[in-house]
Amino acid sequence: MSKKWMIIIAIVILLIIVNVAALQYTSTNEFCTYACHYMEPSGESWEESEHYNVTKCMDCHAEPGMIGYIQAKMDGVKELYVHLTQDITREDIEAMEVHVSNESCLQCHGNIMDDPNHQLHERMDCGDCHLGIGHGEEVDVIECGECHPEMANDHDIDEDLSDEDLEEEE
Ligand code: HEC
Ligand code: HEC
Ligand code: HEC
Ligand code: HEC
Repeated sequence: MSKKWMIIIAIVILLIIVNVAALQYTSTNEFCTYACHYMEPSGESWEESEHYNVTKCMDCHAEPGMIGYIQAKMDGVKELYVHLTQDITREDIEAMEVHVSNESCLQCHGNIMDDPNHQLHERMDCGDCHLGIGHGEEVDVIECGECHPEMANDHDIDEDLSDEDLEEEE
């Protein structure tokens, strides 16, 4: 092999290593949170949550799988661009409609769908009831009666609903 080719191959390998390192570094919680100061409140509220230490930002904020990972990285490049060219504030971040897909939650909570009440609501977003999940220590679960006004609030999520409850639904 000529010397020229060896140099080219060496450069390609070096680029791959640098890229992988960059991909890994930008997936860390530290990077997600502390690279931009306006992310800090999200990192702090995550630290207060039950999900601290058992999740990474990417577990919820990227669709599961390789495509989701690549998508999250591409969004990240867009975010970096916006970060460098515009003046972002915390208010802008809070005004964003951040959506976490059920698939992300189900990676770890797959067995929740054995529960009849969760099955009834499987087409909804987990976050419709689990308000503020992942951020902050108090997690409010919305009471049944707030969405089903004719229903009492005292149902347990995992009880079998009686026919009477279901009639009330009509
Ligand atoms: C257990 C899942 C979960 C984890 C882990 C998680 N988040 Fe979130 N995050 C959510 C959900 C759900 C929302 C959107 C609904 C809401 O506002 O609560 C959200 C909202 C956000 C928002 C929008 C701002 C806001 O207040 O609405 C930002 C920014 C954010 N997360 C960043 C992060 C960062 C940074 C980390 C890691 C340090 C992280 N998240 C970890 C679930 C998670
Ligand atoms: C990487 C794995 C992982 C992901 C992703 C994840 N969780 Fe969790 N979650 C856990 C673990 C671990 C616990 C704490 C131990 C337990 O009780 O199961 C927990 C606890 C919970 C609890 C009970 C504790 C509480 O805060 O009230 C709920 C509800 C919950 N998760 C819902 C969700 C929802 C909704 C999502 C998606 C937005 C999600 N989780 C994403 C692993 C995960
Ligand atoms: C219609 C509202 C609703 C939806 C939608 C919903 N949940 Fe729940 N979930 C509840 C309620 C209510 C509880 C019981 C909470 C309690 O007792 O504190 C619960 C409990 C849980 C628990 C804790 C179970 C335990 O053994 O303590 C987990 C984990 C959970 N939900 C995950 C999810 C995931 C993941 C999704 C989306 C795929 C989801 N939930 C969608 C209402 C909902
Ligand atoms: C955030 C709003 C919300 C909350 C909280 C909620 N539900 Fe629902 N529920 C819905 C929606 C929306 C549907 C229709 C789901 C569908 O068709 O995919 C539904 C469907 C149902 C059904 C099926 C019958 C029907 O009307 O389609 C029953 C039964 C039910 N819910 C019971 C409960 C119980 C019990 C609780 C409390 C543990 C509860 N729900 C909490 C929104 C909610």
